[in-house]
Amino acid sequence: MPESSKLATVIAVACLSGGSGKTTTVLNLAIMLSQKGKTLAVDFDPQGNLSQWLGITDLSESATIAETILPDTERMQVKEIIQYPSNEDREGRLLVAPSDYSLSRASDAIAMEPGRERFLKRALKPVVSEYDFIIIDSPPSKGILTYNAILASDLLVIPTECTPKGVTGAVSTFVLVQELAELDFQVPAILGIVPTRDAWAGANQTRMSKAAITALLEALPNIHIFSSVRQSTVVQQTNHAGWSLLEAGEKSLAQPYIEVVDAIVRSK
Ligand SMILES: Nc1ncnc2c1ncn2[C@@H]1O[C@H](COP(=O)(O)OP(=O)(O)OP(=O)(O)O)[C@@H](O)[C@H]1O
Ligand SMILES: [Mg+2]
Repeated sequence: MPESSKLATVIAVACLSGGSGKTTTVLNLAIMLSQKGKTLAVDFDPQGNLSQWLGITDLSESATIAETILPDTERMQVKEIIQYPSNEDREGRLLVAPSDYSLSRASDAIAMEPGRERFLKRALKPVVSEYDFIIIDSPPSKGILTYNAILASDLLVIPTECTPKGVTGAVSTFVLVQELAELDFQVPAILGIVPTRDAWAGANQTRMSKAAITALLEALPNIHIFSSVRQSTVVQQTNHAGWSLLEAGEKSLAQPYIEVVDAIVRSK
C-alpha cells in the first residue's frame, strides 16, 4: 500500500432498514478489500450474520466484539477477540471481529455511560495501524450500536433495497448522519448508496426498482449512487458459502462492489 496509508481506512456499512443488503455488502467488500490489503471485518450486529457466513458459528466459548465495548473492568482488547474466518483462509489477509446476541446485552450495559457512542472507535484504536481496511457491519435500527459503527468510521456506504421501505431507510440514514454532525460528532464521508435487490423481469427492470432508484436520486441529489446489485438467488448461495460474488465467478453481479472497492482504495 502507498506511504499515505499507515492507518486503516475504516468503512461503516449502514442503513436504517432491515434486509437492505448490509451484511451482503460487508461480506463482498471485506473479501475484495483483503485482496488489496490486510482487512478486518467487524460484525457489529447482534444478529451475527456476518460471523456465521464467515464460518464462525459457535461463539459459546469465545469472546466477541461485545467484550470490547464494555465498561472498564470487564473490557477486553479487540486483538483478543479477533479470529480467522473458518471456511476460507484467504492467505491470512482477512480477519473477523465476531459478534452474537451478547452484543445487544453490551449495548444495554453501556446505555448510561458517558461517551457511549464512541466505544467502538476506542476499541479499534489499537489496531488501526495494523490493517489497511476495517469494515463494519451494523444493525438495521437507530440506536447506540449503529451510532458506534458510524462514528468509528472514515467512510459510510449505504446499501439500499430497491423498495419504498429501502428508500426511506437510506434517507433516514442520511438524516441521522446530519443529526450527528450537528451535534459536533466527527462523521464519516458518505461514499455512496449501493442499490440492492434490483429486480428485473427478463430485459426489463421492474417498476418498483426503477421507482426506487428515481426516488433516491430525487431525495439525495448530492449523494453518489453506485450501480445496483441485481436480485439473484446466487447472492443467497454465495452469502451462505461465505464467498464474494467475484470469488464465485459472478463478475457482472459483483460489478457494483468492484466500483465501491475502487472508490475506497482511491480515497486512501
Ligand atoms: N442481490 C440480492 N439478491 C437476492 N438476495 C439477496 C441480495 N442481497 C441480499 N440478499 C438476501 O437478502 C437477505 C437480506 O440481506 P442481508 O442480510 O445482506 O441484509 P441486511 O441489511 O444485512 O439485513 P439485516 O437488516 O437483517 O441485518 C439475505 O437473505 C441475503 O442473502
Ligand atoms: Mg445484516
